[in-house]
Amino acid sequence: MQVAATIADMRLARRKLPGTVGFVPTMGYLHEGHLALVTRARQEADSVVASIFVNPIQFGPQEDLASYPRAPERDLAMLEREGVALVFMPSAEEMYPSGYDTFVEMGKLTHRLEGAFRPGHFRGVTTVVARLFNIVQPDRAYFGQKDAQQLMVIRKMVADLAIPVEVVAVPTVREPDGLAMSSRNIYLNPQERQAATVLSKALFLAQGLYAQGERDAQKVRQQMISLIRSEPLATIDYVSIADVQTLDELDAIVCPALASMAVRIGKVHLIDNILLGDEGHPNRKERGGPAS
Ligand code: PAJ
Repeated sequence: MQVAATIADMRLARRKLPGTVGFVPTMGYLHEGHLALVTRARQEADSVVASIFVNPIQFGPQEDLASYPRAPERDLAMLEREGVALVFMPSAEEMYPSGYDTFVEMGKLTHRLEGAFRPGHFRGVTTVVARLFNIVQPDRAYFGQKDAQQLMVIRKMVADLAIPVEVVAVPTVREPDGLAMSSRNIYLNPQERQAATVLSKALFLAQGLYAQGERDAQKVRQQMISLIRSEPLATIDYVSIADVQTLDELDAIVCPALASMAVRIGKVHLIDNILLGDEGHPNRKERGGPAS
């Protein structure tokens, strides 16, 4: 496995890779969720490229950039074990040299949900992903359904800017008790870790209500909110049932709908989501279901 720290080295190494390239961008501190993206990329591409870069411009001034967990040696060992051919691990100066002044800014979709609570976050994400795409020039790029809005934003950026990359969605990997794997779970103390199961419980509740035939989005939101409020360590930022294309909040649940939430457990910002009624949806095969 090769590791490149500069754009120049990366381009050289990229050119020598055989066949199609699958790309997995990450901020490191890898877990099974990241590795699911790598596994999928290995199945579909001849060579897998990963990146590890904690992107400063997607963190707000009050957010956890300085304390974001890092374990580069461990990450590299994991990627090597998974058969990754090339890792891009640039410094912040390499990605944003002095005078850097070009940003990718999207409209409506980035102002909702996470965007409303984290101003500037998606501008940072779209900018770094566009730059990474230009450096790596992959055929396909793999993103987790865990960050559903990010996935939608990247898909839209690729479509709007006609970037020649196929975006592939990979299902959320969860701990046995339902908690979605996240690098930020490390911040949770044992009580908070237990409390954090309330997110997936609320999503599974929504899924159960939907399965029983409930289509009133407000009723489902209310039940999710009541469940989360029953957990004293949890503070809700948002609970949403929205159109999966536009993220417009729904009155009646038409499938598939995105049930998503951001909840703070203590000081830790956690997000999770689930798709309601996605059977037969064109994206289904990308989430591991049978191809249609
Ligand atoms: P990061 O949080 O490191 O996540 C990297 C990728 O792993 C994202 O596509 C994310 O959705 C996916 N992922 C995280 N947890 C997952 C889980 N439990 N199951 C499945 N996939 C999971 O997302 C970012 O980094 C950054 O915003 C990035 C896209 C790299 C741009 O800086």
